[in-house]
Amino acid sequence: MRENANSNKTIIMIKKPYHDRDGHIWVDGEFIDWRESKVHVLTHSLHYGSAVFEGDRAYEGKIFRLTDHSRRLINSAEHMGYEIPYTLTQIDQACKDTLAKSGLGSAYVRPIAWRGSEMMGVASKNNRTHLAIALWHWGNPFPNRMEGIRLAMADWRRPAPDTIPCKSKGAGLYMICTLSKDAAAAKGFDDALMLDYRGRIAECTGAHIFFVRDGELHTPTNDILLDGLTHDSIVKLAEKRAVKVYRRDIYPSELPHFSESFIVGTAAEVTPVREIAGHSYVPGNICEMLINDYDGAVHGRIEI
Ligand SMILES: Cc1ncc(COP(=O)(O)O)c(C=O)c1O
Repeated sequence: MRENANSNKTIIMIKKPYHDRDGHIWVDGEFIDWRESKVHVLTHSLHYGSAVFEGDRAYEGKIFRLTDHSRRLINSAEHMGYEIPYTLTQIDQACKDTLAKSGLGSAYVRPIAWRGSEMMGVASKNNRTHLAIALWHWGNPFPNRMEGIRLAMADWRRPAPDTIPCKSKGAGLYMICTLSKDAAAAKGFDDALMLDYRGRIAECTGAHIFFVRDGELHTPTNDILLDGLTHDSIVKLAEKRAVKVYRRDIYPSELPHFSESFIVGTAAEVTPVREIAGHSYVPGNICEMLINDYDGAVHGRIEI
């Protein structure tokens, strides 16, 4: 730990910062030494928030739903008004090559595209588009997963679809996620549950949410949220088990009436929730079944 020179708050120094590691990062078609993969301060996307990225996971040397992630990356850039100068197949191959070069089996994969530094100002069209793929080891971060996590209610709401390209996994959309996650952590919670611009339950800061009532699943309508790949996998796995799934508008007034809740995402996988802002849930059979089925899917034992 050390004192931050710019404030009187104590910040925790991570043992191995991300910029200072061994390995290689794929940047614009070639592998660069990890520590040399830098962008200039006058990079357009750094100033105007238009980088788009993905979060994939590799299990035992294979990236789960790789092509779906790569396709979403291309679509995210299109929503932001630019085109990634690589095809779907090339992006898939670059991710596979980066994984192979790392020698890792379990990894978090972070492809990111951004506008370069040819042009400074709000207008963007003369900028070159770049693509990089970095990855790092990622094991199981939740050894006591069935304990469940605690969610606070976020002060920030997911924006209306005519205020931001809400289907893009764009960097700018994460401003309110970071604010909400940090605010939740400051109050001792694990994550924050965000409502949307209409007051409906939306999602957590990096994961979608499900609720259980009478053995059936309920999950928010997804008209303004990222199209989650884990969410899609979970719906398919639940249907395989003949568990009914209702996608519908859910308001906070319903929170006391559910028995279980869990969040889903590439990073979170299936993580039970034990509390949402004072409402308690007991992680139970449905959570456990879907945790196991999802584990089967990512390791290739169950087909979806
Ligand atoms: C805001 C947000 N919601 C949901 C998700 C879950 O999406 P996925 O299951 O595709 O990882 C993510 C992660 O990418 C996210 O960042």
